[in-house]
Amino acid sequence: MTRKLLITGGAGFIGSHVVRLFVTKYPDYQIYNLDALTYAGNLENLTDIADTPNYHFIKADITDEQAIPALFAQYGFDGVIHLAAESHVDRSISDPFAFLRTNVFGTTNLLNAAKNAWKGNFEGKRFYHVSTDEVYGALAFDGTFFTENTKYDPHSPYSASKASSDHFVRAYNDTYGLPVVISNCSNNYGANHFPEKLIPLSINNIKNNRPIPIYGKGENVRDWLFVNDHARAIDTIFHTGKNGETYNIGGNNEWSNLDLIHKLCEIMDRKLGRAPGVSAKLITFVKDRAGHDLRYAIDSSKLQRELGWKPSLQFEEGLDKTVDWYLQNEAWLEHVTSGAYQKYYEKQYK
Ligand code: NAD
Ligand code: TYD
Repeated sequence: MTRKLLITGGAGFIGSHVVRLFVTKYPDYQIYNLDALTYAGNLENLTDIADTPNYHFIKADITDEQAIPALFAQYGFDGVIHLAAESHVDRSISDPFAFLRTNVFGTTNLLNAAKNAWKGNFEGKRFYHVSTDEVYGALAFDGTFFTENTKYDPHSPYSASKASSDHFVRAYNDTYGLPVVISNCSNNYGANHFPEKLIPLSINNIKNNRPIPIYGKGENVRDWLFVNDHARAIDTIFHTGKNGETYNIGGNNEWSNLDLIHKLCEIMDRKLGRAPGVSAKLITFVKDRAGHDLRYAIDSSKLQRELGWKPSLQFEEGLDKTVDWYLQNEAWLEHVTSGAYQKYYEKQYK
């Protein structure tokens, strides 16, 4: 079957893995990667598939009220996988309006364009919204998990904007019958992760003998999932999930930040030929993040039971692979940290 799929945010961390999976696994699909190329968008993430005939790049902003409907009219998309977002909690604390604009207004603009383009003919259409477990708020250290029925209780401007976008997606389903599906995933890690987030920032700092900043006491817990497993879950849910449903995606893999960083330091010592314990000396406790959620943990049993997905990797294996990727892709890391990656689009596409 041929499809014309719009994937938003495909130049970012998770989006690039989703685009690659769809372009290579479904040669009959035309894949349109729409991305505004903000600081987080990097077309160098996709150099290996850039010339594949079923891959197309569109530089556009999801908040653009003229361009987005015009693109639906021009290309006739019959499916949307929406990942474009402002995604970093610390940035949301210093610039909440950017999160309101892209995550809430941008998502609603896309929903509206899909609704108007599909004109009530929803046969074979699907709008898939990629969201986060952070909409559910924070858990205590009590062994409970977020399920699809957990009440929304976002605390950061990032999670509040994602929660709001989830509500708009459900409202377009309830009000206009738009065929939607939502997934809420835990923290991802893996290749191409922008080095402002905990794991890639720490890898980069350890490599360069710089301090590893740990917020507060490092006791906060996150549930980590390998990014390729998230991309596989998105593929499964896009093709076999039920309209109007929500699916939680997680690794069943909880780590306190401090334990995680100690594990990473062990791996880095080994890979860099340092004596055990050398990298851990870089750990530096810094002021805590405002409103820092204590614990996230996902119950993904619905997805596993109903759609047959499960994570493929143990964390230590995934972390090992991730470290290898960063050590083998020094040019990528250098371009990202120097800002050179932002010139790539002009060279390739202008
Ligand atoms: P990212 O920040 O790495 O990438 C976001 C992408 O969106 C970038 O390519 C950026 O250029 C693009 N973008 C931003 N604003 C845009 C706009 N106005 N118009 C068009 N493109 C725009 O993010 P990520 O970590 O890959 O996250 C992708 C999605 O997955 C987000 O919706 C995020 O909320 C969700 N998510 C992320 C995680 C995680 O651990 N990173 C976990 C669960 C869910
Ligand atoms: P992050 O990677 O920003 O993801 P999120 O906030 O979406 O969970 O942060 C993961 C955890 O690591 C979170 O508890 C905050 C903490 N953290 C640090 O301790 N130091 C850092 O420099 C960063 C970026 C995060």
